[in-house]
Amino acid sequence: MYYQINGGKKLFGEVEIGGAKNCLLPLIASSVAIDGISEIDKCPPMTDVLNMIELLRRLGAKVEYGENRVQIDSRTINCVQVDENLSKKLRGSVLLLGALLARFKRAVVPLSGGCAIGKRPIDIHISALKRLGVTVEEENEKLYCDATNSKGNYVRLTYPSVGASENLITFASLTKGTTVLDNVAMEPEVVALEKFLVLAGAKISGVGSSRLEICGVEKLNSIFFSPIPDRIETATYLTACLMTQGKITLRNTCPLHVKCLIDLLPFDVVTCCDDCICVQTQRKIESFGKIVTGPYPMFATDMQSLVLSLSTVAMGQTLIFEKVFENRFSNCQELVKMGAKIDLFDDCATIFGVDQLCGADVKCSDLRSGAGLVLAGLNAKGTTRIFDVFHILRGYCDLAKNLNNLGSEIFEIKE
Ligand code: UD1
Repeated sequence: MYYQINGGKKLFGEVEIGGAKNCLLPLIASSVAIDGISEIDKCPPMTDVLNMIELLRRLGAKVEYGENRVQIDSRTINCVQVDENLSKKLRGSVLLLGALLARFKRAVVPLSGGCAIGKRPIDIHISALKRLGVTVEEENEKLYCDATNSKGNYVRLTYPSVGASENLITFASLTKGTTVLDNVAMEPEVVALEKFLVLAGAKISGVGSSRLEICGVEKLNSIFFSPIPDRIETATYLTACLMTQGKITLRNTCPLHVKCLIDLLPFDVVTCCDDCICVQTQRKIESFGKIVTGPYPMFATDMQSLVLSLSTVAMGQTLIFEKVFENRFSNCQELVKMGAKIDLFDDCATIFGVDQLCGADVKCSDLRSGAGLVLAGLNAKGTTRIFDVFHILRGYCDLAKNLNNLGSEIFEIKE
């Protein structure tokens, strides 16, 4: 399938934000550690979520999914080996490592998977697990891990990796003794996982901070939980409105989680209340000066591709430094085909805003850069065709439909 976008339409109306993909993946993965039933709502059928659900089924979990709600019975899990073919499609499959080890003390996890946005090693996960007494052996692109003799310890992560934090928090929750985790990621999705585990019976103090003290418990219990709203989806619609100069309201979101983006904008463009954001602009946005991506609460790397597209039509020059992943400027050359002016050097993109982009044939190379291209297509004069949209479907449910409800003209064309 590809998207055909007839650009230049202003966006008006309301859009409801769904549960966050990057929250749902660790929640579903950590359900494996629960000796009971986990029920999670606000769970849209994005490809990554469906693949994670399928991974759990292949471990033996009984999973029912429908109407944006998933019910996972992990009591029936009878396998500790993560499916190799499926996990190649999903970087988040590495999150099963901590959960399987926590509950079954053994795990076999294939290496690699997910977006092609950088090297994405898992050395931080492994060295931290080793500090907790886990033995790890690598053979034929698989990790064989054993936690039979694991016990709590002090672990300082060398970098606040989101995935490593999530694996470690889940693992420590069922590991004998006390674990102190330092330099833990503070992304809202990590904090949501901490709350999920606490509700299931984990003993975690310092929730929401970069230092957690976790006393291992014997068992985690059945739970019902709602994920946080998707902050990247929120940022996508917010940016779409800015690129087309309209007026939209985002409902069921959390303004605080997109503060790094809102802080870049003039005060009269965005109005926030508890769980909604109203965006309105009739003029072009000024350029942003300098943006540097980093761990939360710094500017989110997942929003970088979105703001990169916006910068191509902002007035003036913007510098974007990508400090989290090595390969996150792949859409620059596609944007240049659409008339953008971008100089790329190492981890820095210098963008000189133009009046309007123009339609072209472009190709997605990863999830968020794909979304960035959709935004560019909404702004562009004429028709843009975006190929390889399967990348976008990994993390967005109904992106084209929702944008069309706001007034865009996107056709989903089956090839
Ligand atoms: C998660 C998100 C992803 C987001 C990223 C950063 C999910 C499913 N994905 O990815 O959308 O862009 O956080 O906010 O939640 N690193 C190492 N060694 C490790 C682990 C990480 O060197 O063991 C490096 C990575 O290569 C990368 C940086 O640390 O350069 C950040 O990675 P990390 O925070 O782990 O991101 P993910 O959990 O993979």
